[in-house]
Amino acid sequence: MARHSVTLIPGDGIGVETSAAMQQVVAASGAQIDWEVAEAGAACMDIHGTPLPDSTIEAVKRNKVAIKGPITTPVGTGFRSVNVALRKTLDLYVCLRPVISLPGAGGRYDDVDLVIVRENSEDLYAGIEFEEGSEGARRLIEFVDESGAGAIRPDSGISIKPISVTGTRRIVEYAFEYALKHGREKVTAVHKANIMKHSDGLFLRVAREVAEEYAGRVAFEDKIVDAFCMSLVMDPSQFDVVVFPNLYGDIASDLAAGLVGGLGIAPGANIGKDYAVFEAVHGSAPDIAGKDIANPTAEILSAAMMLDHLGELEAAARIRAAVARVYAEGRCLTGDIRRATGLGGEPARCSEFTAELVRVLEEM
Ligand code: NAI
Repeated sequence: MARHSVTLIPGDGIGVETSAAMQQVVAASGAQIDWEVAEAGAACMDIHGTPLPDSTIEAVKRNKVAIKGPITTPVGTGFRSVNVALRKTLDLYVCLRPVISLPGAGGRYDDVDLVIVRENSEDLYAGIEFEEGSEGARRLIEFVDESGAGAIRPDSGISIKPISVTGTRRIVEYAFEYALKHGREKVTAVHKANIMKHSDGLFLRVAREVAEEYAGRVAFEDKIVDAFCMSLVMDPSQFDVVVFPNLYGDIASDLAAGLVGGLGIAPGANIGKDYAVFEAVHGSAPDIAGKDIANPTAEILSAAMMLDHLGELEAAARIRAAVARVYAEGRCLTGDIRRATGLGGEPARCSEFTAELVRVLEEM
């Protein structure tokens, strides 16, 4: 079996615990990984004065593949999102999040099998913002007023929502190529084109153009984001591959995770042409950090996606099979899943759940 060098960024909060659990499970899967640990996040900021040192970016570039824990982003003030910076610097334009029912995880449905493809580089999430009262905000307000496009109150803060033809084309193409490669039948594009005609409207127009190129091979439909949310909650089985502009994709990811058992089991990946960074959907969960009660499944399933990416399909399949077995048996599950399933009994600690997974992997 080939050896692989992977950059590991444990991150903040529960990331420290879930990353350690993930490493144990990957080792038990038989995959040969050399971990190069790199720092980023709020704890790193306190020590090094930056939340994302150049050495961490260099480590990801060197190994081309990384897995990271969540990173705390201060709300409203403080440093800007490290996640956004990492995605921008490495041009990780795809955020890929499979949402699949896991029997025993307490999901609302047992037939969810969809893939979220979220644009990762633009939209309101691009971080182009003007603080209330700043010179930039003042000039922008003046420009909008003079252009006749509308009026913005002078005491407004402003966030810009750019959506480009280039950015849309490459994410929609990725969604269609993903569908073809994984035998999926339909791509749904989600937007609010009826209201935001020049950003979401552009997204829809380009999505339709790309869909034409795949006609007869992959089906296509579009949904307005509010109607999509209702349809997703009422019947998630109708969706297959779903492609979103950045912000709707972010929100829909948590919504979809909630349908299958919660953030504790939702994996993901940020993928670009040259680099890939795997990470769970959830954040640093400061409310439960350091207590050994976080559910590491999401990061472990993110590692399975990483192993697929590295060509270690067998090790990835073993991890997924072991996770499925531990959940189906239901004896050793963390508190979030016990709550989701309504099961009583003592919840397993993060370390106990991990030990059980390792035991199952060694037995398989
Ligand atoms: P969160 O995902 O950290 O937590 C939301 C709720 O889910 C909390 O009650 C938490 O205890 C629970 N939860 C999350 N993951 C869990 C797990 N593995 N096991 C059991 N319970 C789990 O979202 P929140 O509270 O909005 O954000 C906290 C911090 O994380 C913020 O600073 C935010 O910016 C950051 N964040 C970072 C992300 C990343 O690095 N990719 C993604 C999302 C948020």
